[in-house]
Amino acid sequence: MLVFIAILLSTSQVLAKFRGFKDPIFPQYPNDMKSIPFRLGSMTPYHPPDKTCVAIRCHCTVRHGAKYPKEDVQTEISGLNFIQEYLNARYKDENALNALPKENREAILKIMKWVNKTSSKSAKEINQHGLQTMYKLGSRWNSRLLNIVTSIESEKDIEFNSAIEDRCVLSGQEFLRGFLKIQKGKDSTVIEIPLAKVPKKGDHRIKLDKGKPEVKEPKVKKPDEEEVEIKFFNKVCPQETCYLREKIVKLLFPSDDEWETWRNEITSARIRAMYMACANSYVYDYSNEEEGHAWCHVFDIDDIIMFENMHDYQYYIKNGYNDIKTKNYGHPMMRDILGFLDKKDTEKFKLFASHTSNCLSLITGFRMFEDKDKLSLKNMTEGDKMSNRKWKSSLLGNYACNIMVVVYECENANYEISEEEEVSIFLNETPLEMVFENEITCTQCPIDAVKNLIIQLLKDTPTDEELKEYENLQKGKIVQEKIGETSISESSVKT
Ligand SMILES: *[C@@H]1O[C@H](CO)[C@@H](O)[C@H](O)[C@H]1NC(C)=O
Ligand SMILES: *[C@@H]1O[C@H](CO)[C@@H](O)[C@H](O)[C@H]1NC(C)=O
Repeated sequence: MLVFIAILLSTSQVLAKFRGFKDPIFPQYPNDMKSIPFRLGSMTPYHPPDKTCVAIRCHCTVRHGAKYPKEDVQTEISGLNFIQEYLNARYKDENALNALPKENREAILKIMKWVNKTSSKSAKEINQHGLQTMYKLGSRWNSRLLNIVTSIESEKDIEFNSAIEDRCVLSGQEFLRGFLKIQKGKDSTVIEIPLAKVPKKGDHRIKLDKGKPEVKEPKVKKPDEEEVEIKFFNKVCPQETCYLREKIVKLLFPSDDEWETWRNEITSARIRAMYMACANSYVYDYSNEEEGHAWCHVFDIDDIIMFENMHDYQYYIKNGYNDIKTKNYGHPMMRDILGFLDKKDTEKFKLFASHTSNCLSLITGFRMFEDKDKLSLKNMTEGDKMSNRKWKSSLLGNYACNIMVVVYECENANYEISEEEEVSIFLNETPLEMVFENEITCTQCPIDAVKNLIIQLLKDTPTDEELKEYENLQKGKIVQEKIGETSISESSVKT
């Protein structure tokens, strides 16, 4: 990162030599007498487009910005303090540190400089970085959808929905501030951001329908996201034989006398804490970056890819194509989008400030990034680990991920407003290419075609038989989970 910034600075100071402009390509004019006005230069405007479109309404689902880790993760990270304290004491004498091989010295020095910024007070709260991201995202959409922004006359033109958590409400507010360019003391069409509406019971647009527990007696916990991650991690890094343990102990505690003690301290739970310290270091403000990312340096790129796989697998189970239920979690929001497209007199801007699960469930509902092969614990941890998979949830469902559905009104070259509106759907600010029959594709498509596409997607619901099979499978699974529970909690990270 520092090197990158240094390069940027150096290039901005030394101006690149100008080589000239590149000639644009001429538009294609008809090869008949219709081209007279163009060929003889008597047509204005010079390049008349077939049509001119302006955005008039949009529907946005956005995840909150970066948050502080939850309390038990913060506790686990703080649990790494004693390693740092030990290293600080052992290498108080610089000569001792300098005597180490380069690889060990570098990693140890980084851990010694680590600044623990976790504080249990902030658990799961959005942080400054997250708020800024939301504001900037809103600003970028402001410049893209300026026509909508200027057409907003009052708070009534906006519907602001949010998940109940503060980080979502605050994210939505910050997004709106950037989108509407609300600034203190400056004129803007809207002065106040409308109050956030939180989902009522039974509304599954934001709060997904996880369903009732299938088995009532005996009461067993449904496997949650964390258990999926823990299972994955325990498979890759089992307590006694984890390859990472030996590697990290050798890296941080290279002398023979340290081996016995530290081999027992560097448990697989602590290694997971190191991973979380690394991943979460990006949410804190560090004036000196090195102080923050210290724990990333006990891993190499293959280890990081393993954690990425763990993350992706977890979300595949939770909001991906795992089963007939998870893959349709996005349906209520898709029906909402359909309703939004149907009604012309609706709000001009409809916002849903929500969670990763909402971004991913829409992506899954759109049947995007679907692999032919199902992802399983086995093939995500063995062989090539599905490295060519499409499902990369870490890159799709990240902080501030967003799906924006924009409705346009178009005029033809004769300034006549066309009957049919057009629609673009943006995933993380990139317009999606929609594919229709006969290989017709478009990124801004006729509204009826888009509605039809969503209707078709909504029809992909499980048959009664599939439902029955699913339910039986769930019952079986829960019994299995129950049996397997002891092995999960034994190696649980809550040390
Ligand atoms: C650092 O770690 C300790 C636990 O050892 C914790 O109590 C504290 O809140 C952490 N954060 C800061 C900013 O010191
Ligand atoms: C991955 O596992 C799933 C589920 O067991 C299986 O259907 C699929 O064929 C496997 N794919 C590969 C490439 O191993």
